[in-house]
Amino acid sequence: MYRAIQTQVDYTGYGGVELLLVLCGLDLSLPCPRHCICYTSPSTVSCQAHNFHAVPEGIPAQSERVFLQNNKIQRLLRGHFSPTTTMLWLYSNNISYIQPSTFHGFDRLEEVDLGDNRHLQAVASDTFLGLGRLHALHLYHCGLITLPPGIFAGLTNLQYLYLQDNQLEFLEDDLFIDLLNLSHLFLHGNKLWSLRQNTFRGLGVLDRLLLHQNRIQWVDHQAFHDLRRLTTLYLFNNSLTELSGSSLTLLPALEYLRLNDNPWECDCKALSLWDWLRGSEAPPPL
Ligand SMILES: *[C@@H]1O[C@H](CO)[C@@H](O)[C@H](O)[C@H]1NC(C)=O
Ligand SMILES: *[C@@H]1O[C@H](CO)[C@@H](O)[C@H](O)[C@H]1NC(C)=O
Ligand SMILES: *[C@@H]1O[C@H](CO)[C@@H](O)[C@H](O)[C@H]1NC(C)=O
Repeated sequence: MYRAIQTQVDYTGYGGVELLLVLCGLDLSLPCPRHCICYTSPSTVSCQAHNFHAVPEGIPAQSERVFLQNNKIQRLLRGHFSPTTTMLWLYSNNISYIQPSTFHGFDRLEEVDLGDNRHLQAVASDTFLGLGRLHALHLYHCGLITLPPGIFAGLTNLQYLYLQDNQLEFLEDDLFIDLLNLSHLFLHGNKLWSLRQNTFRGLGVLDRLLLHQNRIQWVDHQAFHDLRRLTTLYLFNNSLTELSGSSLTLLPALEYLRLNDNPWECDCKALSLWDWLRGSEAPPPL
């Protein structure tokens, strides 16, 4: 088989090269946007690192994977992509606006990477509406200042949510309540200052919660109440002067806890944390 292909290339010139490309999954006969590479099974359009200032026209309607990272794309609009898309990489562009209906009806979408678009700053609450198959959403380093209530509504299959390195100061109560399958929540490198009783409500299978490099000074006793499967909690480099041991007893699966680089006050308010760290029964909340 291999020999036969070689013969084609040697003796038939361009046609042979094309045959070889088709055998490798590249199909030059399909329409493909200028400066992009398209191939089949799964149907893929690859346009990364080409100085595009806008989503190129002519992305084939049946495309499943669309790679547009490392360009200078500024806006995402309805009609740019097709509802057959399962994987969409748009990281490291210059996106400052996403039309809320851009992904409406994209019920096969599994992964969207919008990370490192530092002028984005805001995303409308219905942007990800109906993306019931989504399992990874990347919104790191997007200059996000707030997240509107309901922005993650209905994302019951989401497993990875990357929100690190933004400017978030506050998380609405119950923001994550529909994320029944979330295992990784990355919130480090923001400006969060409090964790409230219902900030993390609903996250029953969360495994990793990264909150380091924020400004957290206040953690409600009940803040971790639903996180029975959490194994990793990073709270280092925050502004904690105290943390009640009773908030940590709510985490039966916890294995990795980092609390360094906080301005701890070593007075009697630290006793319950000290007891928790020694593995003894925590006293009633102070
Ligand atoms: C990126 O977007 C911002 C805001 O929309 C704009 O001011 C800036 O000029 C853009 N940069 C490039 C390299 O296109
Ligand atoms: C949750 O994720 C697992 C994979 O870890 C998947 O098999 C399962 O179907 C998902 N469950 C729900 C309710 O989405
Ligand atoms: C702590 O986090 C801040 C940002 O919130 C960062 O500038 C600083 O370098 C970090 N310090 C350490 C010791 O990691």
